[in-house]
Formats: sequence, C-alpha cells, structure tokens
Amino acid sequence: MTKKTLKKAKKVGAGGELTDVLLASKKIYKPAVKITKEAVVKDWEKARSEADKDPLKYWEEAAKDLVWFKPWTQVLDKSQKPFYKWFIGGQTNLAYNAIDRWLNTPCEDKIAIMSEDETGRARKFTYKEVAREVNKIVNGLKGLGVKKGDRIAIYMPNIPEIAFAMLACAKIGAMHSVVYAGYSATALQDRINDASAKIVFTADGSWRRGKAINLKTVVDEAVKNCPSVEKVIVAKNNNQEVPFNPAKDIWLADLVKDQSTESQCAAMDAEDPAFVLYTSGTTSKPKGVVHVHGGYPVGVLRTMKWIWDIKDNDIFWCTADPGWITGHSYIIYGPLMAGVTTIMYEGTPDFPEQDHIWSMVEKYKVTILYTAPTLIRAMMSLGDDLPDKHEMPSLRLLGSVGEPINPKAWKWYYEHIGKSKRPVLDTWWQTETGCNMISPLPVTPLKAGSATKPFPGIQADILDMKGKKVPAGSGGYLVIKSPWPSMIRTVFNAPERYLKTYWHEIKGVFFTGDIGFKDKDGYFFIQGRTDDMLKIAGHRLGTAEVESAFVSHPAVAECGVIGVPDEIKGEVIKAFCILKKGFVGDDKLKDELKLHVRHTIGPVAVMKDVAFVDSLPKTRSGKIMRRILKAKELGLPLGDTSALI
Ligand code: WT7
Repeated sequence: MTKKTLKKAKKVGAGGELTDVLLASKKIYKPAVKITKEAVVKDWEKARSEADKDPLKYWEEAAKDLVWFKPWTQVLDKSQKPFYKWFIGGQTNLAYNAIDRWLNTPCEDKIAIMSEDETGRARKFTYKEVAREVNKIVNGLKGLGVKKGDRIAIYMPNIPEIAFAMLACAKIGAMHSVVYAGYSATALQDRINDASAKIVFTADGSWRRGKAINLKTVVDEAVKNCPSVEKVIVAKNNNQEVPFNPAKDIWLADLVKDQSTESQCAAMDAEDPAFVLYTSGTTSKPKGVVHVHGGYPVGVLRTMKWIWDIKDNDIFWCTADPGWITGHSYIIYGPLMAGVTTIMYEGTPDFPEQDHIWSMVEKYKVTILYTAPTLIRAMMSLGDDLPDKHEMPSLRLLGSVGEPINPKAWKWYYEHIGKSKRPVLDTWWQTETGCNMISPLPVTPLKAGSATKPFPGIQADILDMKGKKVPAGSGGYLVIKSPWPSMIRTVFNAPERYLKTYWHEIKGVFFTGDIGFKDKDGYFFIQGRTDDMLKIAGHRLGTAEVESAFVSHPAVAECGVIGVPDEIKGEVIKAFCILKKGFVGDDKLKDELKLHVRHTIGPVAVMKDVAFVDSLPKTRSGKIMRRILKAKELGLPLGDTSALI
C-alpha cells in the first residue's frame, strides 16, 4: 500500500485502534454483472440517493428479480406498524427461488454446492441434483405428515444435507429452525420446545480438528424433554456408531429411499413465515427471529447483486455456519438464488494445515470470500508467509461480518489476501435484518474499519436516546429509520418481545442495540453493543443466558458476567460468582463451573476466567451493573461509563 493512499484520521475504531483511513481508488474495482439487467452499480451515491427518493419503487424493482406465482397488489402495508407487511397479495416460495427456478435453464447443470470435510472428502451437486435431493426429502417429510406451518429443527454440520433439509422445509412451507451444532443439548432442547418442532434433522456426527464430534447423542439427550418431537432424521456423515431408536429415529437414506425426485412447491403468501432462527436477547430466553417467504429473499438477492456484484461464474465461499443468519443468507439462499456455486467446508479453516483456507481458495478458484474478523485475526497471528505463498488469482471480492473489524486486521486482510487490489467489504447487519444493511458496494471508496454507508433502500442513522441526530464524530445509537423487506417480522410466539426489544427504546425507529458514530463524510463506524450482549468470535451470546447457566450450578448463588477483550476472538467471558454457603472457591470448582457452563450452553461459550466474589455491584432495583464490573476489570475510570461498551 502506498503512502499516498493512506490518510490518518483522528478517530478511534474497533479495538481502540487509531483508524488509518484508506481511500481506495475507485478504479480498484470494475463492476460487471450479468445476472440482472440493472445491477451494474457504477455510482453508489447515485444508487443510494435514487433509492432514497422512492424506496418503495426501489424495493418493488428488486422484488421483480424473484419468481412470483402471483404478483403483489401492495408493496408495503403499514397499517399495523411496526408489524410491517411487504408485497401483499403476492405468492412465492423461498426454495423455489433458490432451486426450482433454475430447472430447465442452462443453470440446472451448473454446480450449486461444492463441499469438503477435514478428511478431504469432496462432493459436488448441480442445481438439478440438489433439486432431486430436496424433492426426495420433501416427499419423505410429507409421508411423515409434515405440513405447511409446521416447525422442523435442524441440528447438523455444514454439509450439503443441511441445505437439502432447509430447502425441503421451505418448499413444503414448514418453518425450519436451524440450531448451531456447537450448542449443547439444553440449548437445543429450549429451542425445539419454544418452536414445538415436530421433526429434528441431525447427523451421526461431524469432524473438528481431527476429532469426531457426536451430534446424535446430543439430540437424544435434548429430545428426551421435547414432547413435540415425533421423529429424528439422521444423516450418515462421519459413519460413527451412534445409538439408534427405531421407534423414533430414521436414517435420512431410508427416508428418501424410493421417493420420487419430483415434488410440488407450496405457493406461500409473501408474509407466510419461512423460518425461525434463535438469537440471544437480554433475558436468558433466546428470541426466535421470524423471516418470511416474500421479503427476506428480496433483500438477500438484491445484496447478492449489488454488494457481491454476482456474476454467472462466481464461486462464493462464506465461511460461516448455516446455524447462523450469515449461513442462511450467504451460504445457502443468497448464492443459490443468484444461481452461482457455493462452498460448504465442514471443519475449521486452519485444519488439516494452517493455511488450509488459502489452499481451498486456490483449489476451488473462489472468487468471493466472506469471513469474520476473528478468523482474519487468527490467520494474521499465524504469520504473513502463509497467505503470501498463495497467489489466489481467482479472488475478486473480500467480505467481513459479525463484529467490528479493527483497522489492523482490515489492512492485513486487504494487503495479504487482497494483495492491495481487492476491495474489503465490511458488512454490518444482524439476524434481525436478514441481509447486509450497511456495507460498501465494490466501487465504494473504502475506509479501514468502516462498513461505510447504508445499502441503497436502507435508511440508517446514529441518534441519541431521545431520537435526535448526533453531530459527526459523536457516539450514539444505530437505528434503522424505515422498514425494509427482509426485516424480522416478529419474535416467534412473543410479539410483545418484538415490540419491546426493537421499537420501544427510541420512538418510531428500529433499535439495533449497537452503538457507533458517523464521520464527517457520513461513514459509519459501528463499535459494539449497548445492551448486555457478548460477541464471542462473532457469535452473539447474552450475558443473561450465561449467568443463568452459572446459577443453575448448585454452588452458585449469584453471578455477573462480562466480555473481556481477546486478541483473536474479539471477546471472551469473565464471570464473577457469589458462592452459596458451604462451598469453597478453589481451582477445582472453577474448572467444574467452566465445564458446567460449556455443557449447558455449548462450546460457543468461551470462558476466560471465573472469579469468586463476596458481592456484586447493583443498582437500587437489584440489577447487576456489569459496566462497573467491566470498568474494574479493564482498569477504566468507574464514572466514565460512556467508554464502556
Ligand atoms: C451483531 C449481530 C449478521 C451478521 C452475523 C452476526 C455485530 C455484525 C458487524 C460489522 C460491526 C457487526 C453487531 C450486530 N456486527 N456485523 N460489520 N461491524 N459489528 O449476526 O449474531 O445477529 O449479530 O453483530 O453488534 O448487532 P448476529
């Protein structure tokens, strides 16, 4: 990177680093889009101002990129706001737009999914082959009595079968509820019960760093306490021995045996729910974020085209897991709706070799790599020579998501993976938003550590608690000021939680729970959460959930947890526990508690330390003041809570 392209800005970005502002030359990237007629976005400011002039017209245009069985009669219905409804009267189907639409077109013989696991087993499925696999599952599920509106839990690794299962649910109009396979039996059980899922999809097991992970036994433990579950469908994946109960369990291979490879796609109303995806909230009970068949794909497909500037021959690799929204939108639905090839890697990207991720990029000729800051920092810590020995000529766009990317990691990604010529697209969004919301387009001048500006059609801003704009450079709350098609519709079975969490904090706007600032050029710098949420390796985990896991142990009377900075994972957990009478706070108990929490929540709960204390700082009403705990831990002035995120 030349000195000329670097400008210093006196701003503190993520990780407290001084933000080096990189104004990339507009010439870095030449947009060239085939799939859509209008998607060559050469001038992003113009695209944004045009969309802002008439957002409904803009989104209506975007919706026309999908296949509709019946056209809508109204674009947006605000009559029951904030329960917004989009594309009223329209009928479509999420799975149809991902798979069936490509049948009998030249795309049907194109590779839809390429997968690989740690042992090197590689598989490929064309669009036509995916359609057949999905249809067999659809017919199998129908045989089990699955109907439109039913809920189906999916607890599987990042393998093609998880995509088949999700697509089959969507095709029938049953809601899938994917639970990340790094969650424990208790967490899975809570999610299955909240949605009253009828069926659970799982696999015998998976691989992680050479170790066989058993998934089926986790599901067995969970479903013991899930009265709604009628059947457990098990995919053979790593061929390990697992308990099998013929009364309840069915091998996926047996379910699909002799099933027809054709199936009918349910015509879904635009506002019919497509899936529920649980995410942590401020209480210990996770929230089921509901997305729908009509609006969700509109947002996802438009971002595929404009942010990812998707071309017919793209090989898209999003390194997330299908258990998170990133995986839903950018491993499965987005790339398939765009008719390109998506990659699913079952394992960690630094295994079997430390530079496995870069070898994969070369081997599969990946054109777009979409990953997370935690992975970038982990790769950075392994040394520059690992990526430097890979040319990766196929790459043209790099993405980042999940947490603020600190400028140091941004620049490393840009220089060592982007070879200083590929744009780094830092995309801000959430489970609730469905698709990328604040992000550069490939032609946008970039600043390291900034997600730049709202996507065309999205009105985001930084406001104070009273809903007033704050001056450039001052911190405030990130809000979305008007509805967008791929927004959360409600919290499953808890509409009052939807209202309270997102619409009651600041009047009239969607409250994201994030804080940040805009610089003088209107660029957004998102710095973290305002609420009691942890971001561990980019995964959202509520402090309340972790605390409730601690107090479920017989030794713990009270507990407060905070996130403490970690160079690779962004944040890890530190817990402060008050013990019940008769328990001794020694190292043995510490280890036992760590294990207990890991068992209750799952390996996502990465714990740094447990401290035993006599008291916890509390408000008069008895709420634990985690900010004070954090200030003490980090050696910050106690009064200056504004500095605490
Ligand atoms: C939270 C959403 C949908 C992405 C995967 C995580 C943080 C996400 C960024 C970014 C700064 C980011 C926010 C957001 N976040 N992307 N580019 N810059 N922060 O989804 O679990 O719903 O978490 O992740 O805090 O609110 P999620």
